[in-house]
Amino acid sequence: MKSIVVLISGGGTNLQAVIDEIHNTDEPGQISAVISNKADAYGLQRAQQADIATHVFTFQKGGSREAFDREIMNQIDEYKPDLVVLAGYMRILSPEFVNHYMGRMINIHPSLLPEFKGLHTHQRALDAKVPYHGASVHFVTPELDDGPVIIQGKVPVEASDTAESLQKKVHVQEHVIYPTAIKWFCHDRLCMLDGKAYLDNKELDSAGNPIST
Ligand code: GRF
Repeated sequence: MKSIVVLISGGGTNLQAVIDEIHNTDEPGQISAVISNKADAYGLQRAQQADIATHVFTFQKGGSREAFDREIMNQIDEYKPDLVVLAGYMRILSPEFVNHYMGRMINIHPSLLPEFKGLHTHQRALDAKVPYHGASVHFVTPELDDGPVIIQGKVPVEASDTAESLQKKVHVQEHVIYPTAIKWFCHDRLCMLDGKAYLDNKELDSAGNPIST
């Protein structure tokens, strides 16, 4: 059974998908704890409803990012996690934090990486008039939104789309691809080696598809 720790900052719809698809099923993965940097994150209530331990760490203005991240690391490590899942965790992580969990920490980003790293991805996709938008699950490496992609979910961009409508469509994809990636990890099918993602021992390309050899 894999121990999973989930980090959130907000509503936690992705957390809910992981609770429904993995935690509350026979999958070999359990969420040991949910950690938030916001005391009012609705995701904390979702965790409590599922009887999952929760912890809140609030960053104090003027504090050190390194010290804050170290506090969270200490808490996470009490759960001896096999996997750390970032699910809408809105903080830039210190290099020490990222290095500590390298190969066992994943994130979901609302764009088809490498397009639109950073914030406001839905509006930027509209402005760029791309035909497709979506979300990517990737291993976390020191550079922001840059680690190897594991799986992507695509949606067509319609002329009538707004940032809100796109966000809704992308969320639907997120709730499918995040549990999928986590199940792969729990079944020992997924790993990161030398900065590359592998599924069933096959290297994945930049869109998360197996590279045929
Ligand atoms: C998602 O859009 C995810 O891609 C991004 O943060 C958002 C979290 O949403 N990293 P939720 O809290 O899971 O509803």
